[in-house]
Amino acid sequence: MSAARPIVLDVDTGVDDACAILLAALHPGLDLRAVTCVGGNAPLPQVVSNTLAVLHTAGRDDVPVAAGADRPLLAEPHDARHVHGDDGMGDLGWPRSPRAPETRHAVELLRDVLRAAARAGERVTVVPLAPLTNIALLLRTYPDVAAGIAEICFMGGAAHVGNATASAEFNVFHDPESAAVVIDACTDLDVALRMYGLDVFYSPVVTRTEAEELVALDPTGPAGLGGRLIAFQCERFGADGGTIGDAGAVCAVIDPQGLRTEPLPVRVELGGSWSRGRTVVDRRDWTGDLAHDPHGQALTRVDVGLDVDAEGYARLWRETLASAAGRR
Ligand code: RIB
Ligand code: CA
Repeated sequence: MSAARPIVLDVDTGVDDACAILLAALHPGLDLRAVTCVGGNAPLPQVVSNTLAVLHTAGRDDVPVAAGADRPLLAEPHDARHVHGDDGMGDLGWPRSPRAPETRHAVELLRDVLRAAARAGERVTVVPLAPLTNIALLLRTYPDVAAGIAEICFMGGAAHVGNATASAEFNVFHDPESAAVVIDACTDLDVALRMYGLDVFYSPVVTRTEAEELVALDPTGPAGLGGRLIAFQCERFGADGGTIGDAGAVCAVIDPQGLRTEPLPVRVELGGSWSRGRTVVDRRDWTGDLAHDPHGQALTRVDVGLDVDAEGYARLWRETLASAAGRR
């Protein structure tokens, strides 16, 4: 087996962020170097507490956790506790970790991890699963870290739909300026950028029955937590299944072939009464239109996820958690 791929997550844990952390912490093909936190689904202190709790459940207290930005660069914060529960993690009452986060700021932890990787001749995959405030601050404050980045594979945006508004996806809507900065900085720094957006986000689903099987397998361990998180979604939305959400972006790192992407120009709408926070994904294919477009084409081409092996990604997540049960 080839060496495990170095990876860092930036999260706003979050029911589906928790699903993603479990996968990144447990999959043998990944080397989870750090998890950094940003305000988003829930206020920052709750995000940090949830993140530490998930890593503790996965037996990964070795993974450093740091708190970052507690609010967007400019926008007013709007949490998503109506989706994720008052505690941000399904109101499960899941046990807290005894561990405290790093004293370093999230941006400093990411800087240190990426610089160390660059010195060692490694490249780290950066997986933002939340508003991009920490990542924007990182790339503009310490641009040298690009030497330690293999790619940024972020959950955010959409080519076609919205969720936070009719026009915008939550992570980008929460901090549109940061999303625009990250897209621009990736062009400046020649960092590959892959977008796991709403066009694929909801497709990998775990059924209520599969969730119950995970809980039965290991009620207080990672499989049990994963199953309870899916079951929470089923209850909250009156559905027979729940999406692995952010965990799909981690699946795209483990199995890139499972996500079909196209390199497309992308801009973030920063103005607009009803469109602020929209990722404007340019899918026009006639050069005549582009040549006469007064806006001109967006400078940055992003590998936009347009189709996903939903069954395969859901199975990858389920089987990784189930196999951890056998190791406890
Ligand atoms: O729009 C979905 C995104 O917003 C996910 O990252 C979810 O956790 C929320 O943060
Ligand atoms: Ca998230």
